[in-house]
Amino acid sequence: MADFKRIGILTSGGDCAGLNAVIRAVVRHAVEHYGWEVLGIRNATLGLMGHPPDAIDLTLDTVDSLLLRVGTMLGTTNKGDPFAFPMPDGTKQDRSQDIADGYSKLGLDALIGIGGDGSLAILRRLAQQGNMNLIGIPKTIDNDVNMTELSIGFDTAVNIATESLDRLHFTAASHSRVMILEVMGRDAGHIALTAGIAGGAHVILIPEISYRLKSICEIIAQRQRMGQNFSIIIVSEAVCGEDGCKITKDLHGNEQRLGGIGQYLAERISACSGAETRVTVLGHIQRGGIPSPRDRVLGSAFGVAAVDLIAENQFDRMVVWKNREVSSVPILDAISDYCCVDPNGTLVKTARGLGICFGD
Ligand code: F6P
Repeated sequence: MADFKRIGILTSGGDCAGLNAVIRAVVRHAVEHYGWEVLGIRNATLGLMGHPPDAIDLTLDTVDSLLLRVGTMLGTTNKGDPFAFPMPDGTKQDRSQDIADGYSKLGLDALIGIGGDGSLAILRRLAQQGNMNLIGIPKTIDNDVNMTELSIGFDTAVNIATESLDRLHFTAASHSRVMILEVMGRDAGHIALTAGIAGGAHVILIPEISYRLKSICEIIAQRQRMGQNFSIIIVSEAVCGEDGCKITKDLHGNEQRLGGIGQYLAERISACSGAETRVTVLGHIQRGGIPSPRDRVLGSAFGVAAVDLIAENQFDRMVVWKNREVSSVPILDAISDYCCVDPNGTLVKTARGLGICFGD
């Protein structure tokens, strides 16, 4: 058995379904198999920054019944870069040393950070600078973390988007409408592509493939000529307008929040095809929902593998899902790029093979 250790775990960035399955797996494996202690750090790096640090003991009891729970029991944030942390007086301060101090004050031997590429890059920089033993676990509904085929939360988000398409299908047919479903995926079209195939969309629009409005309207007209009076379009929030710019809303300072491409397209499609259009923006609903079995299994596998890496003293690594197995890669490899949809990949070919239009 490996020596006694006290390990910390935190969730960082946007929440998603399956995070609690990871926390549960880490605690069960660390406590039951290795006899270690696990501390849950609250609200991502904010918990380590506090004086005293904000952490709770995670016991087998605390993680009971966690598989079904959505969100993260530890809390999270996707704001407040510790290297330029917004202070109450409006200035920005480098708080990275506070985080390293928090890690030592808690007496941690290692830290498991669950995050997307942005969070993992910040955590790695903190770990390098503050001598922390870090293991990364990829999560994001966007599924754009490099080096892993799957990230926690993606499968549940796809299930929710697919179910939404299923629900839109018959109301679209009843009213002879063009229904547009706008889904998340900040830089990548994985949710739109996967749910679009599963949910029988007629048009899939993703940021990786440029579209022309004319092509979309032609498909709608072609379907009408064939007696199919409705069409279903799924569009990723990251798709640009015709001027090549992303559609954003609610700008606060430098913050750009994506949203609005569905409405943008609806107005133009209606004008050019004469079809009646309606828009559904799925938004944060995609991050809720009971975690799918696949996300629960992935979270469990990642949690167990992360603890084993610590037992083997292998740090600065991220667990990945590849070829039906969990393995690990240097975190640096995972954060040095991100994984968008391959326009020549299997899923795009599948969609094209089914006659689904990408608007190109
Ligand atoms: O990265 C996950 C994600 O859900 C994106 O798909 C989306 O653009 C963004 O986070 C939304 O962030 P927020 O929770 O800050 O609105």
